[in-house]
Amino acid sequence: MSKRTHDQVDEMEAGPSTSSTITTSLTPSTNGVGAAEEVTVGLLKVPQKRFYRQRAHANVFVDHELDYPKSPAEMDWSFYYPKYFSNPDQQVEPLEGQNVKKVEWADVGCGFGGLLMALAPMFPDTLMLGMEIRMSVTKYVTDRIAATRQHQSLLPSESTERVKGQYENVSVIRANAMKHIANFFEKGQLSKIFFLFPDPHFKNRKQKARIITPGLLAEYAYVLQPGGILYTVTDVKDLHEWMALHLNNHPLFIPIPNSELENDPILEAARTSTEEGQKVERNKGDKWVACFRRAPNPED
Ligand SMILES: C[S@@+](CC[C@H](N)C(=O)[O-])C[C@H]1O[C@@H](n2cnc3c(N)ncnc32)[C@H](O)[C@@H]1O
Repeated sequence: MSKRTHDQVDEMEAGPSTSSTITTSLTPSTNGVGAAEEVTVGLLKVPQKRFYRQRAHANVFVDHELDYPKSPAEMDWSFYYPKYFSNPDQQVEPLEGQNVKKVEWADVGCGFGGLLMALAPMFPDTLMLGMEIRMSVTKYVTDRIAATRQHQSLLPSESTERVKGQYENVSVIRANAMKHIANFFEKGQLSKIFFLFPDPHFKNRKQKARIITPGLLAEYAYVLQPGGILYTVTDVKDLHEWMALHLNNHPLFIPIPNSELENDPILEAARTSTEEGQKVERNKGDKWVACFRRAPNPED
């Protein structure tokens, strides 16, 4: 990423405000620096949504001065997953196991991050990323993850609150997935991609702003590996029919019967753990699910 991006990211993702400090024993950090010594750390507050309000919709066609790598190979993931990637700007040897994994799951339009926070401890060895276009919402999720990671890192090892992976496997990035998904992920990198309660864009002239369109399906098929799964969930029947129609018509997506995924804990999380999904539940609304498996590449 460019210098400008790092500066912008630092500004945007400076972390939630601190409420108090504690003195703790510092264990060696992920970049190998640090020994057993006492340090005072500022405690990050769990963010509150009301301080991160933003308009409900962002225009997906205007330039939001978003930054993105020219290609996936140029993406520096160390800011997002410091445990799993070494910082190329620091002249230190990567720790064992760093720079090996790749992001495997993407939650497109992740909103406030409910799915990712539910899945991260269930699949602690899988790197998952939320892509969200709205700046405040991205900042909320960034702060939520930072506070949760810090809370986890300060728990005693015997604490029952401690979860596997300690949320180091989850992150969020501000991005327009409709424009730049292939800048972040290489061909076949993802094994799961989620579109949960996407904006419906009801009016006909607005339909081109939908996150699933025939043109965009080629992009999603490109980043999804053969056998990978694309999940859609919505409370809008018309939108469900539109998404299912275009996915059914695409040669690289094969519908998965809902019965096949009945006991899939990932689909259960996708249906119930996002903020929109919970809102629909509170209002006793319907939820429509359509999942598709990425077909093998024709040349294979
Ligand atoms: C209705 S919300 C649903 C959020 C979340 N999936 C949930 O279920 O709670 C749709 C989200 O998608 C985001 N979004 C819309 N278009 C996007 C795009 N092109 N790239 C990334 N995020 C997008 C919006 O900002 C919004 O937060």
